Amino acid sequence: MTEKKFYFFANWKMYLDFDESNILANGLAEELKNKSRSYEMTVFPSALALQTVTQVLRDLNIDTGIQNGYWVDKGGYTGEISFSMAQNIGCRFALIGHSERRHQFKESNHDVRMKMENVINNTKLVPVLCVGETQKERDDGKTEEIIEAQLRSAYDGVNWDEKREIIIAYEPVWAIGTGNACDAKEAQSQHERIKAIVKELLPGQSLSVLYGGSVSPENAENYLKEKDIDGVLVGGASAKMDSWLKILAIAEKISKKYV
Ligand code: PGA
Repeated sequence: MTEKKFYFFANWKMYLDFDESNILANGLAEELKNKSRSYEMTVFPSALALQTVTQVLRDLNIDTGIQNGYWVDKGGYTGEISFSMAQNIGCRFALIGHSERRHQFKESNHDVRMKMENVINNTKLVPVLCVGETQKERDDGKTEEIIEAQLRSAYDGVNWDEKREIIIAYEPVWAIGTGNACDAKEAQSQHERIKAIVKELLPGQSLSVLYGGSVSPENAENYLKEKDIDGVLVGGASAKMDSWLKILAIAEKISKKYV
């Protein structure tokens, strides 16, 4: 059987406060203890709960990541948290350029590039680059152009160590939080293109591309059957115990087919 590592990323966004995050993390730890897992699970809690959630999940080999960070390690930057600070409390992953950052907080491709360079040069975190087109860009037939520009500006000329993982999340903006998930075949064709572009920019690196945008227990399996979809980045359905456990049951089933 082919070996394929699947990633199940839970982006809790700003859905849960400190207590709610810890209750969900402890509940997951209780459910998942003593169960072997053949997939990678990572939780991205709010920055406020990052340390406590990391401590709760560490013993189960469930990783955590920071949802956003600043590209300078320390200094007079009121309100910011750096990626190296996230690493310091035990995080392994960093989301970079999530569409809510790009569109609601006006992060540019330049900002995304600065973050990518900081994570690569100053930390050991695995950067998870998020790319995707808006509804308007899709309607204007610009999907491929937008994704390619986002990839090139983030990776071109970055000093990447061969041993570091590359993870990209294809998250069409029109599919995020809308219930209007992208068709699995359409996502597959974008993933195939993304892999081809990144292989050209960073040859010889192993690369995983995850799909995100209204993933639910009902549709998750459709994505995971596609050749170039290596996992899912889930928002709303990951911040509730019942829907996340249903997605993890699919994770278990699909991972067993490959390992
Ligand atoms: P959603 O969010 O699953 O709620 O659509 C996905 C994401 O933004 O990462």
